[in-house]
Amino acid sequence: MGLRTVKSMSAPVAPGRWPLLGHTFAMARQRADFTTRLRQHGEVVQVYLGPLRTYYIASPELTHQLLVAHGPKLRKGRIFDKVRPFLGNGLAMVSGPEHLRQRRLLQPAFHRDRIAQYATIMADAAAELIDSWTPGETRRIEADMQALAATVVSRSLFSTEISRDDIERLRQDLFLILDQTMSRSLIPGFLSWLRASANRRFDAALARVHAFVMGFIADWRRHGEDRGDQLSALLLAEDEDTGQRMSDQQVYDEVVTLLTAGMETTARALAWLFHELAEHPDIEAKVHAEVTEVLGDEKPAIEHVVRLNYTRQVVKETLRKYTTWILMRHTLQDIELGGYTIPAGSEVIFSPYSLHHDPETFADPERFDPGRWEPDRMKALPKGAFMTFGAGARQCIGNVFAETEIVIVLATIAARHRLVPAGPVTSAFASAPYPTSLPMTVQPR
Ligand code: HEM
Repeated sequence: MGLRTVKSMSAPVAPGRWPLLGHTFAMARQRADFTTRLRQHGEVVQVYLGPLRTYYIASPELTHQLLVAHGPKLRKGRIFDKVRPFLGNGLAMVSGPEHLRQRRLLQPAFHRDRIAQYATIMADAAAELIDSWTPGETRRIEADMQALAATVVSRSLFSTEISRDDIERLRQDLFLILDQTMSRSLIPGFLSWLRASANRRFDAALARVHAFVMGFIADWRRHGEDRGDQLSALLLAEDEDTGQRMSDQQVYDEVVTLLTAGMETTARALAWLFHELAEHPDIEAKVHAEVTEVLGDEKPAIEHVVRLNYTRQVVKETLRKYTTWILMRHTLQDIELGGYTIPAGSEVIFSPYSLHHDPETFADPERFDPGRWEPDRMKALPKGAFMTFGAGARQCIGNVFAETEIVIVLATIAARHRLVPAGPVTSAFASAPYPTSLPMTVQPR
C-alpha cells in the first residue's frame, strides 16, 4: 500500500518556475549552480524548459540506474534530432538496434592493440609540441592543447599522412560547424536568410570537411590495406550477422563523430590539468617524481601508463572537476526511478558536472584532490559517482583513448618542463567549463 502511494506521487517541481518560460532563464544564467542545487529538492525533480516538462535526475545512484538498467528504454534527447541533419548519423546520434550495430562496427578502432599504436602517435605529437617551445617563452596553453588534441585524433584516424596545415584547417572547420550547428538548429528555417554570410561560411566548412574525409576514404579503397589507423579499422569492420561493411557515407559520419567528440573534450581536460598542477606545487612535484621514476630516459608508451598510478589519479581528478554540464535522454517506455514513474515520451536530464560537485558524494568538491582516487577511497564512492564518460551501453567509446592521451601528454611534458602561470586565467561555461585564456611560461625542469 505504502509503495503504491509513493509511486503515484509526482516528482517535486524545481522552485522558481515562471509561466511559459519555466526554468529556462535560471538554467541559462546559473547553469551548474542551478542543477547542483536541485538535489536539495529530491533525487528526481521536474524542470521546465519553457513549457516542456523534463525530469532532472539528481543522485549518482539514480543516474547510474537510468543509464545502465533503463538504457534500452531510452534514446538520445530531442536536441540530437535538431543537430542530426548537420552532423549526420554517427554513433553519438543514433539509438536502438542501429546504435548497437554501429557500436560493434566501431569497437575494433578502439581495440587495446590499436590504442598501443595511438600511444606512440600521442607521445610523438606531444614531443613535437615541446620541441617548438623555447625556455622562458609564454604560451597560450589552451591553444596549444587544442592543436595537440586535433593532431592526435587526426593522426589516429588517418595515420601520419595528414599534414599539419590540413589538421589545422580541419580543426577550424569542425569548430565552426559545431559552433553554428546549435544556432542553426534553433533558428526557424524562414529566418535563415538573416544569417546569410554565416550560412555561407558554414556550408563552405562542411563542403571542405566532406571533400577532405571522402578523399581519404577513396584513397583507402584503392589500396584496401590495414594501416593500423582508425580509418582502416572502420573500413574493414564487418557486421557480425550480415558480414556487411559500412558505406562511404556511414564511414564519413563516424569519422566526423570521432573528430568532433575527441578534440575539444580532451584539449579542455589537458589545459585544466596544467592549470591545476601550477596551482598545486606539491601535487606537481609528486607527478614529476613519479614520471622520472617510471620513465627513466624512455619515451612514454602504453606500458608506462598503468604504472603511472599517481599521475592517473591526477588525470581522473581533473576529469571530475572539469566535465560536461548536462546530457539528455528521451524515454521510449515508462520507467520507474526513485519511486516515481517517468512516463514514455519524456525528456530526462542528468548532469555529470553537478554529480561531480555534489558535497554528499565528494566532500569539499571545489578542492583539487587526487587522493580521492586512491583505491580505498574510490571503493567508498556510490555507483554513478564518476560520470565524465557517461555510463552503460552509450558510455564514451573513446574513454581509454582519452585517458591514455592525457597521461601520455602529461608524462611527455612533465619529463622536461614545468608550466608556470604567466597572467590572468579566463574561462567560460558553455557545455562545460573551458579556459578561454591560459597563459603559462615554459621552464625546463
Ligand atoms: C576527456 C575526453 C572525453 C570526454 C570527457 C568524453 C565524454 C563523453 C560522454 C559523456 C559521452 C556520452 C554522452 C551521453 O551519454 O549522452 C561520450 C560519448 C562518445 N564519445 Fe567521448 N569523451 C571524451 C573523449 C572522446 C574521444 C577521444 C573520442 C574518440 C576518439 C570520443 C568519442 C565518443 C563517441 C563516438 C561517443 C558516442 C558513444 C555512443 O553513443 O555509443 N570521446 N563521450
